[in-house]
Amino acid sequence: MSEIKNVGVLGGGLMGAGIAQVAAASGFTTRVREVSDAYAQKARGGIEKRLAGAIEKGKLTAAQRDATLANLSYTTAVSDLKDCDIVIEAVVEELDVKNAMWKELDALCPPRTIFASNTSSLTIAAMAAATTRGDRMVGLHFFNPVPVMKLVEVVKTVTTSSETFTRAFEFAKKLGKEPIAAKDNSGFVVNLLLVPYLIDAINALEHGVASVADIDKGMQLGTGYPMGPFTLLDFVGLDTTYKIAEIMFDEYREKRYAPPPLLKRMVMAGMFGRKSGKGFYDYAVDPPRVSELGL
Ligand code: CAA
Ligand code: NAD
Repeated sequence: MSEIKNVGVLGGGLMGAGIAQVAAASGFTTRVREVSDAYAQKARGGIEKRLAGAIEKGKLTAAQRDATLANLSYTTAVSDLKDCDIVIEAVVEELDVKNAMWKELDALCPPRTIFASNTSSLTIAAMAAATTRGDRMVGLHFFNPVPVMKLVEVVKTVTTSSETFTRAFEFAKKLGKEPIAAKDNSGFVVNLLLVPYLIDAINALEHGVASVADIDKGMQLGTGYPMGPFTLLDFVGLDTTYKIAEIMFDEYREKRYAPPPLLKRMVMAGMFGRKSGKGFYDYAVDPPRVSELGL
């Protein structure tokens, strides 16, 4: 088994930037591909800010920060990831977008390169089918915020070789994560259970069960969740959650995965949650206040 040294990350958004930060901090040479210089600068700025925060808290030394930053580089060319030993994809939850990038890299990367997707709800099989390296395609599903959350779901699809699965599993451990093995069903393990819960919370709100603040408070204080469902929805991104729900509903044709109309309306209005400044909460003020949703 060839050793993984160079890591490529497609996408420097919420997840891609977190994955790149963790890979670089774990000693891997890491290159992030973003769609534009402006987005690449945003990813870089976010990572630098988090590292500075960790130094301030005394959890990181300046030397460790410098070592992490020295491992990181940014590009806007997908082809610049061609020499990586593993490419981790973390772009928008759209199969066509992901597969266009996999196809491009499939033609450029050497046989040793593993393709790993961080998809929340698409199947790994649907991406493997777009390449000639189905045996080297695997799921590596990280959780948000990546530097904090310990779990990674390692997903083996029908074509994934045992060698690829083992390499990906060991790689997740080298990132300091706790990997679990998951089957290639839409939503893997965690989202299969988490997504219906988030959808139920929106449905409860639409049905007037309680307010945003009280549902959040109820789940946080009544069940010990670190965040209530609406805070978590804003944290994950409503645009991403909407796409995940659509994909899971399409796969299973079960009402429990159907994206609620309110979620659709909010996405149409550009209310994506924290990343756009407004979702179930309005982040223009501190502390954030519950948004007016016309309910
Ligand atoms: N990025 C990086 N680090 C972050 C962060 C972020 N966005 N937000 C918080 N942190 C770090 C803080 O720096 C702090 O680090 P230290 O302990 O080293 O000081 C630590 O997290 C705790 O932060 P806080 O004390 O500020 O806040 P908290 O105790 O409320 O924890 C939280 C924040 C870790 C995000 C916590 O609220 C939590 O666990 N929330 C639930 C997150 C969750 O469920 N994630 C899964 C989402 S679903 C998913 O990812 C899958 C999918 O496909 C959609
Ligand atoms: P995000 O919105 O923060 O970032 C999206 C990324 O996709 C950005 O880097 C953006 O530049 C890139 N992108 C957008 N359009 C593109 C295009 N046409 N071509 C190439 N790149 C494009 O999203 P995110 O939350 O980082 O999610 C990324 C992936 O990770 C998705 O597959 C999502 O399902 C998955 N995921 C998300 C979470 C979460 O909590 N947000 C958790 C686990 C997995």
